[in-house]
Amino acid sequence: MKRVLKWVGVIVLLLVLIVAGFAAWIQFSGMPTYDVAVVEMTIPSTPERLVRGRELATSLCVHCHLDPATRIASGKEIVDLPKEFGRAFSKNITNHRTAGIGGWSDGEIVWLLRTGIHPRTGEYVPPWMPKFPRLSDEDMASIVVWLRSDDPYVAAADVPNRPAEPSFLAKFLSRIAFKPLPYPSAPVAHPDTTNSVVWGKYLALGVYDCYSCHSGDFAKMDMLTPENSFDFFAGGNMMPDAAGKAVSTSNITMDKTTGIGSWTREQFITALKTGFRPDGSQIRYPMARFVQASDASIGAIYDYLKTVPTINKPRGVVELHDAGATASAGKKAYYRYECIRCHGESGLGIADLQLADTKYATDSLMSDVIRHINTYQPESYMPKYEDRIPESDMASLIAYVRQLGQASKR
Ligand code: HEC
Ligand code: HEC
Ligand code: HEC
Repeated sequence: MKRVLKWVGVIVLLLVLIVAGFAAWIQFSGMPTYDVAVVEMTIPSTPERLVRGRELATSLCVHCHLDPATRIASGKEIVDLPKEFGRAFSKNITNHRTAGIGGWSDGEIVWLLRTGIHPRTGEYVPPWMPKFPRLSDEDMASIVVWLRSDDPYVAAADVPNRPAEPSFLAKFLSRIAFKPLPYPSAPVAHPDTTNSVVWGKYLALGVYDCYSCHSGDFAKMDMLTPENSFDFFAGGNMMPDAAGKAVSTSNITMDKTTGIGSWTREQFITALKTGFRPDGSQIRYPMARFVQASDASIGAIYDYLKTVPTINKPRGVVELHDAGATASAGKKAYYRYECIRCHGESGLGIADLQLADTKYATDSLMSDVIRHINTYQPESYMPKYEDRIPESDMASLIAYVRQLGQASKR
């Protein structure tokens, strides 16, 4: 009996050592690495590609890579990354030859965007940098052409990259769950842009990735065959905002009661362009307005969604921000109009609000910026508030924005 117990003890001890060793290995070995097989190519620049590339990159890349202080894509902290994953910083993707990606070949950029494997180090690039397996070769070429252009967003900036600080969980998942994607084995054709459903499907699945946020569970998502994702377009993923509260993505199948089956095509286009639903309620971050996309493109997404099987699934949890009963009128407005979801508690969220106080000296100018952001930043996806904020709230809201700016200087 004693002997048996002794052996059980030895086995348990061995198991503990193996688990501890495995954990230590994950902790100290960093991200997994994979083989790199860059396909060299030279992508010629054309005026059409430059225009398309700008349209794509300003909605797909810039918001994550842009330093809000300089408005150059030299990298910034991803503030809405769930804390459990550690800290992540987007990288310098300007034309600087050493600090940015100016020294990368066209093939290296395409390799990274397709596979999620770093072309220089072979390291796996985690999911907070998106991958584009279904983007057509033509659209991919346009993005590369734009990255190489003299657009001020990618003007060479000598800003060093900040290394990521992935948590144990992030590293663990990168070993066992997250995987890079295979490099396409055949050319990825550009879809028929004159067939609305085909074009809309391409935009929703290949370009703007609507399905990934709007499926039921990131862990049960199929990046290569999106239609196989769990609860395809029926929503349910919990997405954190810049102030730590999460919102469930909504059901955007055409189900009449739980989805958007009662929205007209016009209403859908207006909602995606303004950031407000047909009933006037605000669509919360991290849902972003599709500022650059044309009405025809957004309409095409609607036409495609009409062909997606409907699922009856009520919307999930929306975690609300509460300013507290004793808060000032300005703070209450800041919470009520969901400014906090993007600009955070201190004004330092996905976009910096602390500079606004000095930049917009008069209240009438500040009011105009808040109501009509696109006059000042044409690509901004901040909601089109226009006259949705009554004058009575605007004065205290502005006072609060100024207070945030002044508090940051102390
Ligand atoms: C959701 C935020 C996000 C979006 C959107 C995004 N990126 Fe990134 N990107 C990141 C993060 C974070 C990293 C760093 C990942 C890491 O820690 O390895 C990164 C890394 C990169 C790198 C690697 C640079 C280097 O030196 O290692 C390139 C190139 C890049 N992104 C280009 C793009 C392009 C082009 C687009 C648009 C097509 C884009 N990114 C969209 C967040 C984003
Ligand atoms: C980064 C994740 C993300 C992406 C990408 C995304 N959405 Fe959303 N979307 C959300 C979230 C979260 C909500 C819920 C917002 C709320 O509850 O106020 C939402 C809400 C919506 C709504 C409002 C529906 C309703 O009544 O709540 C529509 C319509 C919509 N998204 C369409 C789209 C389309 C079309 C695309 C692609 C072009 C897209 N979304 C891409 C996260 C995303
Ligand atoms: C969906 C996210 C989002 C929401 C909600 C939002 N903003 Fe913004 N806001 C931004 C972004 C992003 C920018 C930076 C401009 C850009 O590059 O897009 C910005 C810029 C601004 C600026 C200009 C800052 C500067 O330095 O030029 C002001 C002022 C501002 N926001 C105020 C507000 C107020 C007040 C609210 C609430 C009524 C609000 N925002 C809600 C995303 C948002």
